[in-house]
Amino acid sequence: MPKSIPFIKPKFPAPEDLAKDLKRIYENNFYSNNGPVYFEFKEKLEAYLGQGLHAVIVSNATMGLMLAIEAIMGEQKNKKKYIAIPAFTFAAGPLAIRWCGFEPLFFDVDPVSAQPDLKSFQKVLDVYSDELAGVLLINDFGIGNGEVDEWDELLTSKNIPYIIDSAPGFGSTYENGEFIGGRGACEVFSFHATKPFGIGEGGLITTKDADLADRLEILKNFGFDDSKRTVGAGTNAKITELDCAIGLRILAKYPETLTDRRKTYARFEDNLKSQNITFLPRAATAAIQFATIVVPPKYQQMLIDKLKVGGVEARTYYAPAVHTFPYFSDAPKVDLSNTELLSQKVISLPVHPDMDPVTVDYICDIIIKNLEKA
Ligand SMILES: Cc1ncc(COP(=O)(O)O)c(C=O)c1O
Repeated sequence: MPKSIPFIKPKFPAPEDLAKDLKRIYENNFYSNNGPVYFEFKEKLEAYLGQGLHAVIVSNATMGLMLAIEAIMGEQKNKKKYIAIPAFTFAAGPLAIRWCGFEPLFFDVDPVSAQPDLKSFQKVLDVYSDELAGVLLINDFGIGNGEVDEWDELLTSKNIPYIIDSAPGFGSTYENGEFIGGRGACEVFSFHATKPFGIGEGGLITTKDADLADRLEILKNFGFDDSKRTVGAGTNAKITELDCAIGLRILAKYPETLTDRRKTYARFEDNLKSQNITFLPRAATAAIQFATIVVPPKYQQMLIDKLKVGGVEARTYYAPAVHTFPYFSDAPKVDLSNTELLSQKVISLPVHPDMDPVTVDYICDIIIKNLEKA
């Protein structure tokens, strides 16, 4: 058994294949600025996701979130102060909110699904309704939120725009079987090396709204119009041709990648049947960045330590929760008891490409044996 099982193990296209891509890019003599490889990647992503979605590929998901907030909520900047966001998330969300001139307003997640909690959001509405510019929801762990229809109904009826941070969820599905990506004003994915669809650095915004996609393209390119004059807000969030070529190679094998990751995840679920362990609902339909288990708080650190002794790197996504970070400690919040408790219960276990079942069993044995002893 390997003595070192890292948390993340990306699988990159082979160097000899990338050499072919580089040759093609060299011959095109086009390295960025939405060149031919960009458009090929964009069309294939749109075909893969279906649903008439428009794909805007960007340099990373954090920039994607910033562009989306600016495009969808930017006009309300000097009128409404807050964008509500679950505290059980990655720092990129609240950072993007502040970068865009708003203040994050933290609400809670459901204690079982870890997804944004409708009841907690009602508390936001009770107090902050008049000052709410929008909501940045999250499909936590890239799992399609089982209550997405309820969220849509509520926010649409109140005319509150929302974006979904689906960073690790490219390839995950909602309950109706559709790929995540088509809800809210837009959804944002990360193609960071740590994600199931990992190309190094990259991100994707998907939307059904063609005008919004056009606005996002302008925002990502210095606010330029067709004659290269800045006509509004903008930045540089473009992606290079080489990154798009890597993305094309990852996409070509993605159905197999998902099958492989879900098979590994299923083995974790089968092996870890214990009254002290629960799994997140609908996790098996996600793209599976890692395997999340939920244990009683008294076992969280003990198990992480024992795994470390066995050479296994485990982490605690998304704990500590973002509202505890120094930079966000002064941001307003409603009761976050579920987030606080979940933060003490989650353990994220490594899921690698082509993971040997023996490795999964080894990790699970450490957990089961130490729970039995505890
Ligand atoms: C939920 C979530 N949102 C956003 C991001 C940021 O993605 P990127 O690294 O592509 O900017 C991450 C990355 O880990 C994430 O997990």
